[in-house]
Amino acid sequence: MSSSRLIKIFDTTLRDGEQSPGASMNHQEKLAIAQALVDLGVDVIEAGFPIASPDDFEAVREIAINFKGPEICGLARCNDADIDRAWEALKHADRPRIHVFLATSPIHREHKLKMTCDEVVARAVKGVERAANYCSNVEFSPEDAGRTELDFLCRVVEAVIAAGANTVNIPDTVGYATPMEMGRVIKTLRDRVPNIEKAVLSVHCHNDLGLAVANSLAAIENGAGQVECTINGIGERAGNCSLEEIVMALRTRNDFYRCDTGIDSTKLVPTSRLVSETTGLLVQRNKAIVGRNAFAHEAGIHQDGMLKERTTYEIMRPEDVGLSSTDLVLGKHSGRAALNDRLRRLGFDLTGDDLNRVFEEFKKLADRKKEVLDDDLVALVQ
Ligand code: KIV
Ligand code: ZN
Repeated sequence: MSSSRLIKIFDTTLRDGEQSPGASMNHQEKLAIAQALVDLGVDVIEAGFPIASPDDFEAVREIAINFKGPEICGLARCNDADIDRAWEALKHADRPRIHVFLATSPIHREHKLKMTCDEVVARAVKGVERAANYCSNVEFSPEDAGRTELDFLCRVVEAVIAAGANTVNIPDTVGYATPMEMGRVIKTLRDRVPNIEKAVLSVHCHNDLGLAVANSLAAIENGAGQVECTINGIGERAGNCSLEEIVMALRTRNDFYRCDTGIDSTKLVPTSRLVSETTGLLVQRNKAIVGRNAFAHEAGIHQDGMLKERTTYEIMRPEDVGLSSTDLVLGKHSGRAALNDRLRRLGFDLTGDDLNRVFEEFKKLADRKKEVLDDDLVALVQ
């Protein structure tokens, strides 16, 4: 049996997450989230894009000064002003990281940058060299790597590693890749780029087709050592890879992935709630791991199974993600076993005809109400 690999969790809730329409956060809110990310155990906090606004700069600077433990990262385009500003914000961090990016795909080269391939390589190298003059920890992202020709991507990656990048992040900026493609890109880079061992390969997937977590897992399977993600999967458009989902996928299916993370999973639900309350972006009820229904069961057959043996219908324990218990919701699909269990917890020990009568009344009520609450049950029994 092979031993586990440690995957770095790079959290970009405060940068890409904040780019979600309607999610901007003020200074104090960013500091509170940074504290939660430290407590959660992320390896890297991307605290913002310092050149974007004075408030972004100040937030990155304060996070760099005040938070120890994770690496603190700031984003910069490949130009002198961005990189200088990023360093100004990061320079007091214990473990600073400058993240420079430049688009590499033909669509971006032609329409956005109006640059040739040679010019893109030269600009990327210059950006990485300037960042590396400030700090030894430099990440480079070829933006829209998911739609970049593989040969050209290999060329860019080799050049930026030679220039001093110690992390190379592969973004699927527009969420276009499929899991097999993403896996193939990572494998190709590992096979073909001669100096690839000098850098950590990272992945940054957007969720436009709902594939961000699957694509990130495929990258990890093929050797990526860092995954970029956000709490609740927030981010540009349909968002990024969700931190809680990728962490729990790696943990729950450690038998398959053989990868660990340094995340304290019991902090996942509290952190998710903090980010949702702060940004105002609600978490959908059936969202994996942190949605209200993720550990709730209503169907009678499921509730009966759960009462007999939890693993019949749950692959994770609610306590492992920071919830106190499974929720057996009493509704029109629920059965006698769950009703009886709840009645006993409420202090009513009913059997035989008494239980049958309450069950009948419960079913009538459940047809009218979506969810029968404890107070309703007490009223029924009384
Ligand atoms: O999606 C993207 O390409 C990005 C880069 C800046 C990494 O967010
Ligand atoms: Zn992004």
